[in-house]
Amino acid sequence: AIEKTYSMLKPDAVRNHHIGEIIARIERAGLTIERMVLEPVTPEQAAANYAEHEGKPFYDGLIAYITSGPVVKMVVSGEGAVKKMRTLMGPTNPAEAAPGTIRGDFGLIMDENVIHGSDSVASAEREINIFFGE
Ligand code: CMP
Repeated sequence: AIEKTYSMLKPDAVRNHHIGEIIARIERAGLTIERMVLEPVTPEQAAANYAEHEGKPFYDGLIAYITSGPVVKMVVSGEGAVKKMRTLMGPTNPAEAAPGTIRGDFGLIMDENVIHGSDSVASAEREINIFFGE
């Protein structure tokens, strides 16, 4: 099915000048960038997006990192877009991500893992609303 997913190039991807290469991979995979903006994550967006991690040991660092500089917020669409993006990204921990995946090629550490992609169609709807809703 044609799906929409939310993806975000995190502050380390922007700082390290990897925007172009990552977007090229997304488009080469046959996916379409429907919406895109480069701007900071607001504190409200950070809290809403990471509510499930509140109270975990890495939560405060996660919020500080994701608000540490501009990100690229995107709505990506296409056939099976949710799974396709997760495959392109590789596993959460860049140390476990194979070469050829975005995290494997551009990531170094778990806490700064380059890119976010929704884990389901339901998460995508929720996240698109957080980042692009009014
Ligand atoms: P992501 O899955 O996009 O969103 C939550 C982030 O928390 C995750 O990427 C990692 O960057 C970060 N994180 C740091 N430590 C952990 C951990 N132990 N488990 C899961 N996520 C972690």
